[in-house]
Amino acid sequence: MKLVIDTDPGVDDAMAITFAALHPDIELLGLTTVFGNVTASQGTHNALYLSERLGLDIPVAEGANVPRVLPPFEPSAHVHGPEGFGNLKVPAPKGKAIAETAAEFLCRVARENPGQIVLCPVGPMTNVADAIDLDPDFAKNLKSIVFMGGTLDRQGNVTPFAEANTWHDPHALDVVLQSGANITMVGLDVTMKLILMAEDFTKMAEINSVHGGFLRDISHFYLKFYKTVGEAGCGFHDPMTIIAALHPELFKTDSTPLGVVLDGEEIGRTYRTEGRPAVNVCVDLDVEGVKAEFMEALAR
Ligand code: RIB
Ligand code: CA
Repeated sequence: MKLVIDTDPGVDDAMAITFAALHPDIELLGLTTVFGNVTASQGTHNALYLSERLGLDIPVAEGANVPRVLPPFEPSAHVHGPEGFGNLKVPAPKGKAIAETAAEFLCRVARENPGQIVLCPVGPMTNVADAIDLDPDFAKNLKSIVFMGGTLDRQGNVTPFAEANTWHDPHALDVVLQSGANITMVGLDVTMKLILMAEDFTKMAEINSVHGGFLRDISHFYLKFYKTVGEAGCGFHDPMTIIAALHPELFKTDSTPLGVVLDGEEIGRTYRTEGRPAVNVCVDLDVEGVKAEFMEALAR
């Protein structure tokens, strides 16, 4: 699977990137960064750092630092830590972002690999909407978009209605949902059905001391945050999205046109609608199968 991850790294983003880097069936062609858990520039720093420590030689392109219509947000430091990796302060990466913007890179890589690229946005959708604006063929050139965000039948995680990624840039998501791309949504309906506990991170470190050990070290802050909102452990959001792209057979989906609320109290809420292209919404999963897939990649 030829993959590009659009990311705001971020603890669970780091898990997603680690999984993609270690999996033999994934060819990771690049990372694009967006605001969200951190600023876009901190995200670029973190994405470069992760690619270097994972031994990847791939482009990192920096994208949007603000949403398309809404005013700028403060990064979610209370969830992911001041620099995105819990309490860890990682060293400066050796590499730099490429000169292309995230949207330019996304358009180019899709054009050069027509019908082959799976794009996994695991942050706000701003860069993807920008790419759609930049190249009218962009959506058509992709194989699919499998995104982390939204919730249908479960309450939100930033407001009672909205999941964080869709809340951060609903206007961008609205553009993407109408683009005609082949889209799968991996939202809280499924990502909160797999809760990782501290013991799971300990196991990751036992399986793979270098990469699993890093994930364990950055998880403490994240797990503490989840405790403050009454959860025993953390959701498996971003890594699940990559696994859904690679192994759709582990998920049950509902095909429905989707809308997103663009203003008011329910802003960012995703809902079933009509008169738009259908989206495959993940509604259930093989929890043990998904978890095993992640642990097996770490063990390789
Ligand atoms: O709601 C969870 C999502 O928001 C994840 O992608 C997490 O990394 C944050 O971006
Ligand atoms: Ca994310």
